[in-house]
Amino acid sequence: MNDRIVNPEVLHGEVLDDSIRPDTIDEYIGQSEVKENLIIFMKAAKMRKETLDHVLLYGPPGLGKTTLSYIIANEMGTNIKTASGPSIEKSGDLASILSSLEEGDVLFIDEIHRMPRQIEEILYPAMEDFTLDIMVGSESSSRNIRIDLPPFTLVGATTRAGDLTGPLRDRFGIVAKLNFYTVEELTQIVKRTSRVLDAPIDDEAAIELATRSRGTPRIANRLFKRVRDYALVMGDGNMTLEITKFALDKLKVDSLGLDDTDYNLLKSIIERFNGGPVGLEAVASSIGEEATTIEDVYEPYLLQTGLLKRTPRGRMVTEKAYEHFGIEIPNK
Ligand SMILES: Nc1ncnc2c1ncn2[C@@H]1O[C@H](COP(=O)(O)OP(=O)(O)O)[C@@H](O)[C@H]1O
Ligand SMILES: [Mg+2]
Repeated sequence: MNDRIVNPEVLHGEVLDDSIRPDTIDEYIGQSEVKENLIIFMKAAKMRKETLDHVLLYGPPGLGKTTLSYIIANEMGTNIKTASGPSIEKSGDLASILSSLEEGDVLFIDEIHRMPRQIEEILYPAMEDFTLDIMVGSESSSRNIRIDLPPFTLVGATTRAGDLTGPLRDRFGIVAKLNFYTVEELTQIVKRTSRVLDAPIDDEAAIELATRSRGTPRIANRLFKRVRDYALVMGDGNMTLEITKFALDKLKVDSLGLDDTDYNLLKSIIERFNGGPVGLEAVASSIGEEATTIEDVYEPYLLQTGLLKRTPRGRMVTEKAYEHFGIEIPNK
């Protein structure tokens, strides 16, 4: 499943193209509410000559959390140091990252919900008072020492805000949720990518690509590159509507951006569970996927487009899903 072209996560071996990543807040398209707030908070912090409050960014993969954290550092004129929850295994790992910080730095911790709980506690005084409590010495003569840290901004990113502990969440002064992008916004992102990569795309083609990108910039940029290949080999390099449709059909991305895995998921609920409601675990085992993968990777977009809904008794497909597949809605 990891290699599916519409996976919102970074694919195994996928080359990250830094050139298409916006590096100022003005170039960051969409998410207007988050953007407007951040602009104010950053401006105020600069006027007070203070560091920006700690920021928590949450939302589905591929919507621009990492991009935004780099933009924050850039706009604040500071350096960024990066780490990720799963890579912080021992308290010493976090202590050494924290003690390497310089005044004003942004510390970006990706997948912060996956940091072990005991280690998380080291973050509390670091976030609140910019202090680090560490144990030194051998077991027989160990003692606690307190080190002052320079003021810094922690930017945490997570796809699962609900998995964060209360004490950690409460220590972020700014909490921002990223949402799926509209077709108009994704069209702008596609056009920007076209300019940066110097690969021309027709207006209708940009809209088509945006419509089929599941509200997700990472997917739009990935599909862009594949369509560009088709345009080069099969046409004159220009990404026309015809070539774009042809390429996306070949890539098995349908008119709503759904692929085979989405079909299997929805069809399984329709055919084996009579449209639902059905528990997440039952759906997961019927299509041979992990429940958490379904929740984090497939479902957010299916819920957003209204093909699937969550009810207290489980997942249900909607009339829109039946219509999309051309299946008659059963009488229940
Ligand atoms: N608001 C945006 N405007 C333009 N491009 C964006 C925007 N958000 C994300 N992107 C593009 O999408 C890609 C994925 O974004 P990223 O920040 O890595 O997502 P996340 O960290 O949330 O998974 C980036 O490489 C960037 O090129
Ligand atoms: Mg990221």
